[in-house]
Amino acid sequence: MADKTEKLLSVLKLQPVVPVLIIDDAATAVPLARALVAGGLKAIEITLRTPAALEAIRLVANEVEGAVAGAGTILNAAQFDQAVEAGSQFIVSPGTTQELLDAASASSVPLLPGAATASEVMALRDEGYEVLKFFPAEQAGGASYLKALSSPLAGTLFCPTGGISLANAKDYLSLPNVICVGGSWVAPKELVARGDWAGITKLAAEAAGLKG
Ligand code: 3PG
Repeated sequence: MADKTEKLLSVLKLQPVVPVLIIDDAATAVPLARALVAGGLKAIEITLRTPAALEAIRLVANEVEGAVAGAGTILNAAQFDQAVEAGSQFIVSPGTTQELLDAASASSVPLLPGAATASEVMALRDEGYEVLKFFPAEQAGGASYLKALSSPLAGTLFCPTGGISLANAKDYLSLPNVICVGGSWVAPKELVARGDWAGITKLAAEAAGLKG
C-alpha cells in the first residue's frame, strides 16, 4: 500500500489542478491532452462516463508525451480493470465500495477513492488509504467543511473535486490537508467542440499557476 500511496502522491504533486474530462469523441482526446500538458497540467483524469472514454485513455497514454493518463468515475471492479488495461496510471472513484477496494488491492495502480464524511474517511484510513478524493466538494460543505476535518483526521490528504473553479480553488489549496484539486473548468465543452486548443492551454496555464 505504501508504494501505491507514493505513486499516487507523485502524480497528484505534479500540479495544483487535475483536469476532469468527459470526452464524447475520442478523436479530441489527443489534442485536448496535448493542450493541457502544454499549459502545465500533466496528470489528466478521463471519466468513464462516455463510450469514448476507454479509447481516449488508451490514446492519451500512448500518444501524448508528458501526460499521465488516469481514469475517473470508476464505479466497479470491471471498470477498474478496463481502465488499467487501457493504460491508466491512477484511478479515481466518486465513492467507495468493497468491490472497488478489492479490485484496487489486487492491482499495482493506485486508487484515489471518494469520501465525503468523517465516517467514510475513517473507513478508508482503516483500509490504509491516506489520500482521498473529497467529493462533491462544494456541495458537501466546501473548503470550511474540509478544513474542519483537518485536525481530527490529521494525516489524511484530499483532492477535492466538484464545483471547483479558478475562483474558489485557492480556498482549498490553502488548506493543510489538500494536495490538489480536481475540476472540469479547464476543458470547457465549447472550447473542445470548436477545437480551441490554445484557449485550453491558456486555462490550463492559469490553473497550473495556482498556489495555496
Ligand atoms: C465530476 O465528478 O464531474 C468532477 O468532480 C468534476 O466536477 P466539476 O465539473 O464540478 O468540476
